[in-house]
Amino acid sequence: MTVQTDMTADIGEILLTEEEIAAKVAELGSQIGADYADRRLTLVSVLKGSLPFMADLMRAIPVPVRIDLMEVSSYGGTTTESSGLVRILKDLSATIEGEEVLIVEDIIDTGLTLNYLVRYLRGKNPRSLRICTLLDKPARRLVDIPVDYVGFTIPDQFVVGYGLDYGEYYRNLRFVGVLRPEVYTGVG
Ligand code: PRP
Repeated sequence: MTVQTDMTADIGEILLTEEEIAAKVAELGSQIGADYADRRLTLVSVLKGSLPFMADLMRAIPVPVRIDLMEVSSYGGTTTESSGLVRILKDLSATIEGEEVLIVEDIIDTGLTLNYLVRYLRGKNPRSLRICTLLDKPARRLVDIPVDYVGFTIPDQFVVGYGLDYGEYYRNLRFVGVLRPEVYTGVG
C-alpha cells in the first residue's frame, strides 16, 4: 500500500470534524460523570484505535478514574473486512474484580471484538461492566451488543482518523474521514 505524504489527499470526505468530535467527547464525559457520580470508575481502553478517544474522554469525566489498556486484534493486515478472529495481544495489568468498569472503544462494526471482550471481562467479576464507543456502524453488526454510550452512529463507509487506521496509518488525523476507495482497492 502507498500512503500519500499528504494524508488528507487520501480522504474523500470529512465525516466528523475535530470540533464535532470534541463537543461529543465533552457531552459523553458529562453524561458518564453524572451516571457514576460518587463512584470510582475503571476505564478499559481497547488499543490501538481508541487511544485518542480514551485520552480525551478520560479528561472529560469529572469522577475519579483509573485506566487500563488491552490490545486485541480482529482485523488482519490491511484488509477492510473483519476476520471474526479475536486475539488478546495485551491483557489488563490490574484486577477489575468488584470494580465499575467502562470499556472504551473507537468503533463497533460487526460487534465480534466486543462480544468476545465482554464475555472475557465479565469472567473477571467486575461490579458493573458498560460500553462506550465513539462510533457505531450498525449496518455491519453480526452479533447484538447492548451499548451504553454511543458518540456517533455512522453509515457503512470505511473511515479513518482520530485513532482509526488503514494499514496502521491515518490514526493521527484530527478528524474522522472516509477513505477514498481507490486507496484500498488499488484502482484509480
Ligand atoms: C477495530 C476497533 C474495534 C474493532 C471493531 O480494532 O478498534 O476494536 O475493530 O470491529 P468489530 O466490531 O467488527 O469487531 P482493530 O482490530 O482494527 O485494531 P486497532 O484498534 O488496533 O486498529
